[in-house]
Amino acid sequence: MMKSWDSTSRDGTPLLVRHAQRDDASLLHEGFRSIVEEGQWLPTFSANSTSGDWMHWIEKTEHTSEVLLVAFHNSEYAGHLTLQPEEWEASRHVAKLGIIVRKEFRNRGIGRLLMVAAQEAALENGFSKIILSTFHDNLSALHLYSSLGFRQVGVRRNHFDMPKGFIDEVLMEKELEEPQSKVL
Ligand SMILES: CC(C)(COP(=O)(O)OP(=O)(O)OC[C@H]1O[C@@H](n2cnc3c(N)ncnc32)[C@H](O)[C@@H]1OP(=O)(O)O)[C@@H](O)C(=O)NCCC(=O)NCCS
Repeated sequence: MMKSWDSTSRDGTPLLVRHAQRDDASLLHEGFRSIVEEGQWLPTFSANSTSGDWMHWIEKTEHTSEVLLVAFHNSEYAGHLTLQPEEWEASRHVAKLGIIVRKEFRNRGIGRLLMVAAQEAALENGFSKIILSTFHDNLSALHLYSSLGFRQVGVRRNHFDMPKGFIDEVLMEKELEEPQSKVL
């Protein structure tokens, strides 16, 4: 049985985070598409993926270190989070994190529950460090990540040419545990 995480939002609504299952594919696809459509928070203008692509991704998490977590607000799909290993062979302990929460469900603690769950799921899957990046004007994301102990490691100036103007990319990371020094 895969682990799941429960909480309650400030207004008492039950929240649940669990690993994605195959029938979640269309929810994840639609959720991603709606955030892309907002045109504000992600450096992409069109969601080219299909539900089928999401299905393949969910299946992949069953036999790789990748993690796909889904959040529910009162049983309704509210957002999701992904962890993917860095490509370098020497960086397999590093997971790249992506997170989205549906517009109507923001500021209720869903992002925080997803992030807490992700840190546990990362350790379970052999990751010891999480990296992520966000837009400099994404104040709730910056607040959420720094409140969980992520540190800012740099800023890429004018990195994204968005409809709202040029945006700096803020790079952040967190080590989940101290690296073990190898005895030679
Ligand atoms: C970033 C995102 C995932 C956060 O999810 P969420 O469910 O709203 O997160 P939470 O409710 O757990 O936490 C949000 C925090 O930001 C705070 N916040 C909200 N607006 C803020 C603002 N303008 N300035 C500072 N903090 C703010 C909230 O008070 C809350 O902090 P608290 O728990 O200490 O009170 C969500 O806003 C989102 O999906 N945005 C669009 C997509 C996106 O930006 N993804 C991340 C790209 S890197």
